[in-house]
Amino acid sequence: MSLLPRLLPRLWAFKFRLLNIAILSVVAGFLGAFSLIAFKPIIEVMFYQPGEAIEGPQVSPLAPPEDAGSPVIPLPSKIAEKVQFYKNLVQNYVAGHQEAAKQWMLHNKVHALILIGIILLVAQALGAYIKYVVEVMTAKIGLGIQKDLKDELFEHIVRQDMPFFSRTSTGQIMARLQNDTRKVQRMLMDFTGSTVIDFFNVIGLLCVLLYLSPRLTIYAAVTLPILGGLFYFTGRAIRKLSDKAEEHDAGVFHVSQEALSGIAVVKAFGADGHEVKRFKQATAQTNRRLLTLQRVQGFVGPANDFLSTLAVVLTLVMGGILFLGDRNYLGPDFQTADFTIYLLAITRFYRPIKGLLKLNVTYHRGMASLARIYRIMDIQPTILDAPDAVDLPDRTPRVEFHGVTFAYPRRRNPQPVLENFNLEVEPGEVVALVGPSGAGKTTLINLICRFYDVQEGVVRIAGHDVRHLRQRSLRDRIAIVPQETFLFNDTIHENIAYGRTDATRAEVEQAARLAHAHHFIAALPDGYDTVVGERGGKLSTGQKQRLAIARALLKNPTILIFDEATASLDAETERQIRDSMRLICRGRTTFIIAHRFSTVMMADRIVVLENGRIVEQGSHETLYEAGGLYARLCNIQGIFVDTPPEATLSGHPSRSLANGLG
Ligand SMILES: Nc1ncnc2c1ncn2[C@@H]1O[C@H](COP(=O)(O)OP(=O)(O)OP(=O)(O)O)[C@@H](O)[C@H]1O
Ligand SMILES: [Mg+2]
Repeated sequence: MSLLPRLLPRLWAFKFRLLNIAILSVVAGFLGAFSLIAFKPIIEVMFYQPGEAIEGPQVSPLAPPEDAGSPVIPLPSKIAEKVQFYKNLVQNYVAGHQEAAKQWMLHNKVHALILIGIILLVAQALGAYIKYVVEVMTAKIGLGIQKDLKDELFEHIVRQDMPFFSRTSTGQIMARLQNDTRKVQRMLMDFTGSTVIDFFNVIGLLCVLLYLSPRLTIYAAVTLPILGGLFYFTGRAIRKLSDKAEEHDAGVFHVSQEALSGIAVVKAFGADGHEVKRFKQATAQTNRRLLTLQRVQGFVGPANDFLSTLAVVLTLVMGGILFLGDRNYLGPDFQTADFTIYLLAITRFYRPIKGLLKLNVTYHRGMASLARIYRIMDIQPTILDAPDAVDLPDRTPRVEFHGVTFAYPRRRNPQPVLENFNLEVEPGEVVALVGPSGAGKTTLINLICRFYDVQEGVVRIAGHDVRHLRQRSLRDRIAIVPQETFLFNDTIHENIAYGRTDATRAEVEQAARLAHAHHFIAALPDGYDTVVGERGGKLSTGQKQRLAIARALLKNPTILIFDEATASLDAETERQIRDSMRLICRGRTTFIIAHRFSTVMMADRIVVLENGRIVEQGSHETLYEAGGLYARLCNIQGIFVDTPPEATLSGHPSRSLANGLG
């Protein structure tokens, strides 16, 4: 889809401001151009030769134009009269009685110079003020649209589904959010700002040139088609090159973000040098691209300078030759002053054009950025609420997998992680998922949360296909203690209350007690108001994990998932949490993924996975006695069947091995 129709509604929101800018720009642009004309009388006055005839009626500026013929009156002494005098003078001049005004000026040269100086200054000051106002208004538009774009883009990205994040790097996202929105802003500001003034300035100057001498203007305009070509071709090249440069810039973001977020690993492996090298490579690549871009961009200014000089020289030489020959060929009554003003105008003519050429650069870079932004904006999440989606009921749900086949999207060889997978979990049951690394345990959880959609089969929660549940309600009722704890750089209270921002301190504390986190939190100088540092860096992994457990419990979910949630706890804390498990799991369908079999043993049912298939399931005793994979894994950890059997957590009867085998 073309980009302009998408940009216009955003600009339309600022229509009145834009209208103001347009009006002011016309005024400022023309003012700049036409104030040049004021130089003409100065030249005429300064270079007046006494022998030169002054045509037209002799008229005093104090008298109305009709009173032509009255004698020249000297300048009045009172201020009010002086003002009136000058006003009449200017009126006379503007009304076409230049000769009368010139008469007066010749008799009052110094006053005339001062007057014209004041006029020029006022025009300049007015122009400068308008430019300032336009600049501010423009900034409001540019920054406003940039903010909206950034906000929308961030919301759009955050609302994307997990497959999106699997294939998009953080660097790319950061580059879109930061660099590209800024380039669009710069483009809009340049467009609506001084460049509009430049545009009308060019038009105004062209009018002045044509007014002074249409014929000479033909010579002066010879270079314009070349400039047009320059405009067109550099624009195209810039858009293409800018795209490549930005992609490499995203690479720089990517490398730095990766290195800094994994700084502990970088340090531990002494990989500082490696990361610096990677970063340097990325910046060097970006630089190469930017240099190519700069070659094109940098060409524009000097080319314009050269072409403008060419135009001036052409005007000077051709105009000079014609002026020396037949002045009237250049224009009726073409005088020295006209020629001088003409030269002044032609040198000024190319200055705003330079601004317009620069705009061409920011325009194309901005449009390339806008295209990249919309490339992301156009990605629609594939995991959407069905039109007839319902809320997940607020009771302890049954969780079922029926004939589920699933592979992660966009992998080179999409080998299914799960194939024709079946599992039924009763409401309130506590199921442990065990098995070697990569068996597909976390994948099962991802499917329950509908982070991904299955390719075949169905995942049902409380009898509903997850694809027919509102995602919001589904996620509201599920709490995960993930494999990798993520804490925000905020207080402990805020981190625990992350899923329930309305929670009171008492509720937060209760959850923390259940997670056996209260003691260590209370021992911190600021207690629950302690800020945990970036990613919770000021806490130990076990402490972070307990906060994650508290966070999950505070949500009061009906489906509770522990993915290696106790892996980083010391044996004592783990035992304490195990003791609280009965309370924690009550009234919830619970999944516990654990490599530590001491935790697993208490589940109502243990499901042993290998390569995405259920190889065994049952209670700890039955599985151990069966002597299969589970028993082997137990033996490795030194856990035996005669380890004092603890009661299962929910009190559910252990289910038989045959039930639900995949
Ligand atoms: N986001 C992903 N994109 C592509 N493939 C993935 C993704 N996550 C996991 N996989 C692949 O799916 C398979 C199962 O992974 P899963 O995370 O479910 O294993 P797991 O049983 O949880 O292992 P562990 O005990 O190590 O956590 C693995 O082969 C893994 O490479
Ligand atoms: Mg896992």
